[in-house]
Amino acid sequence: MDTAPAVRLDNVSKSYADSYAVHDLTLDIAPGEFFSLLGPSGCGKTTTLRMIGGFTDPTGGTILLGGEDVTALPPDKRNVNTVFQSYALFDHLSVAENVAFGLKRKGIARGEIRERVHTMLERVQLDGLADRKPRTLSGGQRQRVALARALVNGPQVLLLDEPLAALDLKLRRRMQVELKQIQREVGITFIFVTHDQDEALTMSDRVAVMNEGRVEQCGTPEDVYERPASRFVASFMGTSNLVPGTYRSGEVVLDGGPSFPVGSRDGLTEGGSVSLSVRPEKIWLSDFEPGMTLLNGVVRETVYSGPTTTYLIDLAPGVTVSVLEQNTDRSRNEDRWTGGEDVQIGWKPEHCLVLH
Ligand SMILES: Nc1ncnc2c1ncn2[C@@H]1O[C@H](COP(=O)(O)OP(=O)(O)O)[C@@H](O)[C@H]1O
Ligand SMILES: [Mg+2]
Repeated sequence: MDTAPAVRLDNVSKSYADSYAVHDLTLDIAPGEFFSLLGPSGCGKTTTLRMIGGFTDPTGGTILLGGEDVTALPPDKRNVNTVFQSYALFDHLSVAENVAFGLKRKGIARGEIRERVHTMLERVQLDGLADRKPRTLSGGQRQRVALARALVNGPQVLLLDEPLAALDLKLRRRMQVELKQIQREVGITFIFVTHDQDEALTMSDRVAVMNEGRVEQCGTPEDVYERPASRFVASFMGTSNLVPGTYRSGEVVLDGGPSFPVGSRDGLTEGGSVSLSVRPEKIWLSDFEPGMTLLNGVVRETVYSGPTTTYLIDLAPGVTVSVLEQNTDRSRNEDRWTGGEDVQIGWKPEHCLVLH
């Protein structure tokens, strides 16, 4: 049985002049995994992808594909294909000819090419458009051509660099679901680059959150969202309350405000500064349960946005948390809050992370 990771990065670095684009990256990506590299612009995602594809040479470390060291191999000697954000299609060729391009260059027999191209176009739902030119297609259709052209070669790993970034939001959401479905069907390892945390959470088996050339956390979408390992991850993965405070003998004392017990937690030092991280949707405003941490506050503002309402609540001068409530059909008193009311908020201890 083949148990080697599809991709192994072992202490891979890329430095330019005086700075690192990627710093000591170590990652294993399993066969068949949908793996995302997520992070803000400039954090090293494209550089990482280009090193796996062989388009950029690392300045340190080793890259293995299916257990084989490919660090010194050129792109065409690696069983890897790339889908770029720009699609990079040939405008003078038809859709079918674009998809057939790589197979022709490999000298595969015509009959087999026709069959494989046909199967792949069906899979990406473009079978009716085989004879069209790319420029006559919509953005979503062109993206599918690019995907079919890469997948038809049967790569071991498919690299996708922000492939949906140029599409409008509605189409992007649909393509996210389709792309994930296609990936499951073909069973090929996908390494997907995005700066959009919703996209990464929706699509991935695992996500590596990158910041300044390093991976800050790598785990399932639930891991990185529910249990962020650092302030950066907590704030990058959607909205989080990050409240500054100090750790003292089992308690966190908020700056200028209340204190409450957090128990003993790993890595906390007496008198050390910490950030409290609680997701807005994990804070309750009523119907508290035993064991919850309760704090007093004053409503500063109510922001209604259709399915949800956000309350900004002051816990102390300069310490504000946001609380998100679903607007379900159960009417709540909170709906009438306009600002200035004294309230209580509460959260379960397991939903409060203490980051240092
Ligand atoms: N050819 C290059 N020469 C110098 N610096 C580069 C080069 N390519 C990328 N960088 C730098 O490396 C860092 C990471 O870039 P990149 O991998 O493109 O980030 P991302 O794809 O996450 O936006 C950036 O600071 C970028 O300016
Ligand atoms: Mg990039």
